[in-house]
Amino acid sequence: MTNPSDLALVPFVSVENMMRLINATGIETMLAELTDAIEADFRRWPEFDKTPRVASHSPGGVIELMPVCDGVLYGFKYVNGHPKNIREGLQTVTAFGLLADVATGYPVLLSEMTLLTAMRTAATSAMAARHLAPGGARVMAMIGNGAQAEFQCLAMKRVVGIDSVRLYDIDGAATEKCARNLKGSGLEVVKCASAQEAVEGAQIITTCTADKQFATILTDNMVGAGVHINAIGGDCPGKTELHRDILLRAGIFTEYTPQTRIEGEIQQLPETHPVTELWQVITGAAPGRRDDRQITLFDSVGFAIEDFSALVWLRDRVAGTDFCQMIDLLADPDDPRDLYGMVLRAQAQR
Ligand SMILES: NC(=O)c1ccc[n+]([C@@H]2O[C@H](COP(=O)([O-])OP(=O)(O)OC[C@H]3O[C@@H](n4cnc5c(N)ncnc54)[C@H](O)[C@@H]3O)[C@@H](O)[C@H]2O)c1
Repeated sequence: MTNPSDLALVPFVSVENMMRLINATGIETMLAELTDAIEADFRRWPEFDKTPRVASHSPGGVIELMPVCDGVLYGFKYVNGHPKNIREGLQTVTAFGLLADVATGYPVLLSEMTLLTAMRTAATSAMAARHLAPGGARVMAMIGNGAQAEFQCLAMKRVVGIDSVRLYDIDGAATEKCARNLKGSGLEVVKCASAQEAVEGAQIITTCTADKQFATILTDNMVGAGVHINAIGGDCPGKTELHRDILLRAGIFTEYTPQTRIEGEIQQLPETHPVTELWQVITGAAPGRRDDRQITLFDSVGFAIEDFSALVWLRDRVAGTDFCQMIDLLADPDDPRDLYGMVLRAQAQR
């Protein structure tokens, strides 16, 4: 039996190691670093080979593959979205992902991405709010208090400087869980009895609910002038959170527009409705918030570059540490053409 080459052993970050890494780094520090990593890649947006994600829909949910490549590295994420799962004691969203070397095609990192998705989604929200929210925003309404919620709150605290969150969920137990988890975070936490109550006095409204249908989490009358809406949960055909009238009043900002037209809040609008891609605001190629009365909407669906940035950050962070383990992922015989011989030699050694 031949030993696998160094390239055949691929660093793998397990859920346990991801939790160790988050705790060792400090969650807010890691969120801030991910925000900067994602922003750096948004600045070089044209360098990426991009495609809308490949989605396989079923009555209960969706399974998606999210590939992207910058010519040097290739990344993809496997992710699902099954809102009904929560009623069966399962997660709505689970994920894992891979980074590969374009020159050889060999993988260079495999990682859990359920936690990393929550981190990168929160970092992306914070990046968008850093460019679009009204200056000095202090209060965020957090509607939908499920798996993503605390990450969203902490990223907005660290990156944007909010100091108070107003929580609402149709399930009071989710709000209790979120409030409990945020105790000691330094955020003032206010539990609200309705979405209407949650948005009172908020400069940022984050909607992060899960329902496989056109939902109306926010109606037009609930959104005052100058607010920034961070709409996370509408991310599939037929799955939206905002009343259409809000979209008509807002400046709309997207990740990768061809994907957002299919999946985002703007699926409710004609294809020609003007939107601005966030990377253009970040590079200064397009204006962001026009004035302090404009409603800005980040129509977030989650784009592959955010996962790519997170995986590259992770590869650099875990290299040579015990936050990863080397796994025998690739068959890589000494003689590259003797793949079958490798199997025979393994049999002979048994
Ligand atoms: N944009 C992105 O990049 C991105 C990334 C990850 C997840 N998501 C989406 O974000 C959403 C939330 O994900 P999660 O993992 O936190 O899901 P989750 O199921 O853990 O939490 C969703 C919460 O929303 C609540 N909810 C449902 N309908 C509501 C309503 N009408 N009003 C108030 N609360 C309501 C549920 O009770 C639940 O607590 C999902 O739709 C998911 O697909 C988007």
